[in-house]
Amino acid sequence: MIDQSAFRDALGTFVTGVTIVTAYDADGNPAGLTANSFNSVSLDPPMVLWSLSLDSRNLPVFREAKAWAVHILAADQQDLSNRFASTGVDKFDGLDCGDGPEGAPRIENCAARFGCTAKFEYEGGDHAIFLGEVVDFERTRAEPLIYHGGRYGRVMPEGSAPSEAQTAQLLADGLIAQVDGGWQLTQAGAAQLRLLRKIEHG
Ligand SMILES: Cc1cc2nc3c(=O)[nH]c(=O)nc-3n(C[C@H](O)[C@H](O)[C@H](O)COP(=O)(O)O)c2cc1C
Repeated sequence: MIDQSAFRDALGTFVTGVTIVTAYDADGNPAGLTANSFNSVSLDPPMVLWSLSLDSRNLPVFREAKAWAVHILAADQQDLSNRFASTGVDKFDGLDCGDGPEGAPRIENCAARFGCTAKFEYEGGDHAIFLGEVVDFERTRAEPLIYHGGRYGRVMPEGSAPSEAQTAQLLADGLIAQVDGGWQLTQAGAAQLRLLRKIEHG
């Protein structure tokens, strides 16, 4: 018998990005949820997949949808990820959301977006697996959001770790703090980073 919690923990060692998958329901209302089960499948034809819990209130939407879109979230879209992972809230409240060419709601400022025609649905235990053919995609220069062991993170390319002196300086400036044996941005650090990003991206 598999220990579910240990199984979940072990799966959490697989580092993923974070996506929001969107579609319109039968009444034309936008729907969507946060999903990290996304993966590439085929280059020719271009196909991708993701899986949806059979408990999700969005199940009927994606079973019926002719088109859906996968948005790969940028590192600064953690709040959006949390919002779309919540049940019973108006996930699209205040979002200025048009449509993609494939006909699914379009979330702005993501790292990448794949607009798909729904192709197949497979059984996957307590999840339904959806396979779509990519009919449109876009990509920005935004750094992607990362998910690992139940926590968000960001990409740190090899060799880019700060030196001890740099870390000590950030600590002295109150921009980082030590948490669980690792470093985390303080509120001031996060505010500085947002400011720098605005300057960088205009
Ligand atoms: C990082 C992250 C990844 C997730 N990945 C999936 C996923 O791949 N499939 C899924 O069904 N739920 C996933 N969830 C959970 C759903 O986002 C969550 O259950 C959401 O409330 C479902 O929306 P709904 O209840 O409105 O259908 C994930 C949540 C987070 C935070």
